[in-house]
Amino acid sequence: MLTPPQIRVLSIVGTRPEAIKMAPVIQALAQDPAFSSRVLATAQHRHMLDQVLALFGIQPDLDLDIMRPNQDLTALTARLLLALDQALAQEAPDLVLIQGDTTTVMTAALACFYHRIPFGHVEAGLRTGDLDNPFPEEMNRLVAGRLARWHFVPTDSARQNLLREGIDPGAIHVTGNTVIDALLSVSGRQPEIGIPLDPAKRLILVTAHRRENFGAPFREICQAILQLAEDNPDIQILYPVHPNPNIQGPAAEILGGHPAITLCPPLDYLPFVGAMQRAYLILSDSGGVQEEAPALAKPVLVLRNETERPEAVEAGVVKLVGPDCNRILLEAQRLLDDPAYYRAMARGVSPYGDGHAAARIIEVLKSWAGSGQVKVPPADPA
Ligand code: UD1
Ligand code: UDP
Repeated sequence: MLTPPQIRVLSIVGTRPEAIKMAPVIQALAQDPAFSSRVLATAQHRHMLDQVLALFGIQPDLDLDIMRPNQDLTALTARLLLALDQALAQEAPDLVLIQGDTTTVMTAALACFYHRIPFGHVEAGLRTGDLDNPFPEEMNRLVAGRLARWHFVPTDSARQNLLREGIDPGAIHVTGNTVIDALLSVSGRQPEIGIPLDPAKRLILVTAHRRENFGAPFREICQAILQLAEDNPDIQILYPVHPNPNIQGPAAEILGGHPAITLCPPLDYLPFVGAMQRAYLILSDSGGVQEEAPALAKPVLVLRNETERPEAVEAGVVKLVGPDCNRILLEAQRLLDDPAYYRAMARGVSPYGDGHAAARIIEVLKSWAGSGQVKVPPADPA
C-alpha cells in the first residue's frame, strides 16, 4: 500500500509568547508521521525566544535573526516582510502556521498571501475593536484574520468575533488556547524561581510591556507599584522587566533600589511559571499571563483599559484597572486586606483551555489533507 505523502508544515515564531504557544503544536507535529515539520524563527525577539525554544527542545530549521535594539515598527515590518518572502520562496511549504498578533504574524500572513500559501492562525479571533488598544496588535489580528485559511480560536466568543466579520464558519475551529497545553506541560514540575524571596511575605508579581502604555501611563503604573510597597510592609514585589528600553529606563528610575521591590531581567518560562505559582497577586498587561494565571488560581489586575480576553473578566477572576494609579492601589489593597474578596478572585478557573488545543489543531489539518484538498508532491519523486 502506498504511504500517503506527508503534509509539509512550516511553523513561524518570532517572540516569546509565540514560542510558548506554538511549542505544543510544533511538538505534536514532530511526533505525527502525517507531517513533515519545519520551524522558522524570525527572532523578532532574541534571548526571550531562544530560552523558550530551548526549554521545549525546539531547534529552528531557519533563523532570520531580525531583532535589533529598540527596533521601530516600520523597520521591523519591512525587514520581516522581505526576509519572510525569501524564506517562503525557498521552503515552499504546503501550509504555514502562525500564532497571535505580533508584527511577525502580520508580515507572515501577508507573505503567505503573496505566495498563495494557505496558513492557519492559532489564537485567532481575539478583538478589542479598538485599533489603538492594543497597538499595533489589533491591526495585526485583523490582517491575519482576513487572510487565514484556518482560524483556530481559543473560545466561543473569539469564534463569534470572526463570524461577525463574515468569516466562513467552516474555517473556524474552537480548539482552546495552546498556552494552557504549554502551562500544564511544565507547571507540575513545581519550578524554582531562582531569586531569593522572603517566605514570610506575600509576593506580588508584575509584568508590563504594552506599547500603548509607553510614557506617562507606564510611569503611573510604576508610581502605583512604589506606593503599594511603601504602604504594605508585609509584601514583596518581583518585577521581571521586559528588555524594551522604553520599559527598562522608567522601571529602573522609579522602582530601582527600593528594598521591597526586586527588578530582574525577564525570567525564563519555567521559573516564571514558578513565580506565578508562588504569587499572591499578579499585576500585568500581558495577554498570556491573563490566560495562565486564572488556571493557576491567581488573581490578575490588568494594567490596561480594554482586553481581548473577556472570559476571565466575566468569570470574576481578572479585573481591568488600566494604567491608573488610584485604581491599581484601590484594587490591590482590597485584595491584600479582604480575604473573602481575595478568595472570590482566586477560584481557579480555566476559560482558555483544557490542555488539548494542539491535538485539536493537528486533527483539523489531518482531516483537511485527508479530504484530498492538499497539493502535496509524492513522498519520493524518484
Ligand atoms: C513584542 C510584540 C508584542 C508582544 C510582545 C511579547 C510587536 C509589535 N510587539 O513587543 O505584541 O506582546 O513582543 O513580549 O510585534 N528585546 C531584547 N531581547 C529580546 C526581546 C526584545 O533586547 O529577547 C528588546 C530589543 O531592544 C527590541 C525591543 O525589546 O528592539 C522591542 O522588541 P519588539 O519585538 O519590537 O517589541 P516588544 O515590545 O517586545
Ligand atoms: N513570561 C515569561 N517570563 C517573564 C514574563 C512572562 O516566561 O519574565 C511568559 C508568560 O508566562 C506568558 C508569556 O511570557 O506565557 C507572555 O509573554 P508577554 O507578556 O511578553 O507577551 P503577551 O502575552 O502580552 O503577548
